[in-house]
Amino acid sequence: MALLFAVAVCLCATPMASSQEFPFRNTSLPFDERVKDLVGRLTLEEMVAQMSHGGANNNGPAPAIPELGINPYQWGTECISGDVDAGPATSFPESIGLAAAFDYQLLYTFARAVSNEVRAKNNNYTAHGDYSFHTGLSCWSPVINILRDPRWGRNQETYGEDPWLSGYLGRAYVTGLQGNNSRYVEANAGCKHFDVHGGPENIPVSRFSFNANVTTRDWRMTFLPQFRACIEAGAWSVMCSYNSINGVPACANKELLTDILRNEWGFKGYVVSDQGAIELVWLGHNYTTGYIDTASACVNAGVSLEAHWRSCGCWSNY
Ligand SMILES: *[C@@H]1O[C@H](CO)[C@@H](O)[C@H](O)[C@H]1NC(C)=O
Ligand SMILES: *[C@@H]1O[C@H](CO)[C@@H](O)[C@H](O)[C@H]1NC(C)=O
Ligand SMILES: *[C@@H]1O[C@H](CO)[C@@H](O)[C@H](O)[C@H]1NC(C)=O
Ligand SMILES: *[C@@H]1O[C@H](CO)[C@@H](O)[C@H](O)[C@H]1NC(C)=O
Ligand SMILES: *[C@@H]1O[C@H](CO)[C@@H](O)[C@H](O)[C@H]1NC(C)=O
Repeated sequence: MALLFAVAVCLCATPMASSQEFPFRNTSLPFDERVKDLVGRLTLEEMVAQMSHGGANNNGPAPAIPELGINPYQWGTECISGDVDAGPATSFPESIGLAAAFDYQLLYTFARAVSNEVRAKNNNYTAHGDYSFHTGLSCWSPVINILRDPRWGRNQETYGEDPWLSGYLGRAYVTGLQGNNSRYVEANAGCKHFDVHGGPENIPVSRFSFNANVTTRDWRMTFLPQFRACIEAGAWSVMCSYNSINGVPACANKELLTDILRNEWGFKGYVVSDQGAIELVWLGHNYTTGYIDTASACVNAGVSLEAHWRSCGCWSNY
């Protein structure tokens, strides 16, 4: 189901590149039918290629499928304080500063402006056949982790220490970024990093192998509510984090990605891994052994799309 949505996003985001009249191109048909038609035309290899290397450094974008007239798609875009790294773009204050205004409407208006720029730039980039990193419509933001430890290097990306406020401002960001067109999202928001993420990143116990032990009470009261709010606001994606939760890596964590996210909260979008987080399930956490074991553990837990970093074996240091 998640793959279906992922491909559907590509459809919305890519201009027609073929005159062929496949049913999946027929805008009079319901999305479900179009997606079913499209997925039925993909080979297994094409499905795998669409789910992996979802946009990062040398590895993105997801490849084109020329015989179906589908262009490449770049899944990795960063919109936390503007259309980051997408050429000249408006730069807004960092999240913790925006949150300090305690102003829902301000966050909403800011996110609308970012979204307009992301969409406009994407129109330009795709018109030029440019699918490089940070040119797409699928934003890896907002960051709604809880600011608990001042030593964490990314506290400035958060909305602070309060789960309720983080969820509230997350909702302003998500609804502003995605827009309110009844049919299309203007740019898609992604709630991250899911979950119990945000501690010191020192080596050797780095963020790539850290295991966060959390009680059910603390998990439910501190680390889940803001994600639930972000999803209830309509965010189409969630990024699973590098760390383990009670011994299970977030990206291989079925309780987190399926039982809570999809079954309990009714999430219908796609789960993308943090960059390199899939291979780190093996090479950082020693939770699995080998690429196939690792990939299948993550897909079976509920991951839809891999954001890859690099295949250089660098992770063995961690
Ligand atoms: C698109 O779907 C509609 C509704 O089923 C149908 O009437 C129409 O003929 C289709 N268009 C094409 C070009 O197949
Ligand atoms: C439009 O895209 C082209 C190709 O990537 C790029 O060189 C150019 O700077 C872009 N224009 C703007 C205004 O971003
Ligand atoms: C969408 O937002 C605009 C601007 O705030 C508003 O005028 C319009 O009524 C909204 N449309 C819907 C369908 O909510
Ligand atoms: C987390 O729990 C595991 C299993 O009980 C334990 O081995 C580990 O030391 C704990 N880690 C921390 C940082 O408390
Ligand atoms: C994973 O295994 C390697 C090699 O045995 C070891 O050096 C490393 O400490 C282990 N990592 C964790 C998080 O247990």
